[in-house]
Amino acid sequence: MKIIVTDTPGQAFQPAADMIAEEIRGFGAPVLGLATGRTMESIYQLLVQQHDAGTLDFSGTTSFNLDEYVGLPPTDPNSYSHYMQEHLFSHVNMPAGQGHVPNGVAVDLEAECARYEAAIRAAGGLGLQLLGIGETGHIGFNEPPSAFDSRTRVVHLDDVTRRQNSGMFGDDPERVPERALTMGVGTILEARRLLLVAVGEGKAAIVDEALNGPINEAVSATAIRLHDDVTVILDEAAARIWR
Ligand code: F6R
Repeated sequence: MKIIVTDTPGQAFQPAADMIAEEIRGFGAPVLGLATGRTMESIYQLLVQQHDAGTLDFSGTTSFNLDEYVGLPPTDPNSYSHYMQEHLFSHVNMPAGQGHVPNGVAVDLEAECARYEAAIRAAGGLGLQLLGIGETGHIGFNEPPSAFDSRTRVVHLDDVTRRQNSGMFGDDPERVPERALTMGVGTILEARRLLLVAVGEGKAAIVDEALNGPINEAVSATAIRLHDDVTVILDEAAARIWR
């Protein structure tokens, strides 16, 4: 595992964006695994800048997002589908239909999960998978406990996560959907490369648990230590306890 610690949060985003850009340039038809959340916003901004400068071409890229809230259509500003349009897809030349996000309003959610897994397989599997980490230790929305061989499925969000994500829902955890679709830990571990990014003091305790604690299904992020090609990028604040 390669761990990079930067002085400031701002400095953590550049190497992350560079790794993604490298993946896009290095493969004829790259398949990215993408994440949402506050941490990723600056990373997508840096990628859009490279695209605007004419140095990054997304036309051959396919992507699969980790997760989506159940019940929120892509038109809902709090949906992850909307987030991806706002922060990345609408700004780059990735053809419509190549950026996949699970459909949280599918009539048959189980069938949607199976379809998503099949779509990832049909695309040739995930190359670089971008990950954040939640307060519960989740990657994607793999709340504790999540089996390390779990696949894309419907999950109930932990109360801690609903509170963590309530900022977009008028600071009211009750308004955060109770369920989500998420790639499983097993799905994530099959990616060729993992890149986890965490910044800020609020992540210090869970980053320490993920990197130093026992590898176990109660902390999904500990599973990344079972993968042989992992890069973790932290700022000083997020690395404080782990160090
Ligand atoms: C979102 C996702 C989550 C977030 C995590 C951190 O697609 O997969 O695991 O990465 O909750 O979120 P932020 O960056 O908002 O702290």
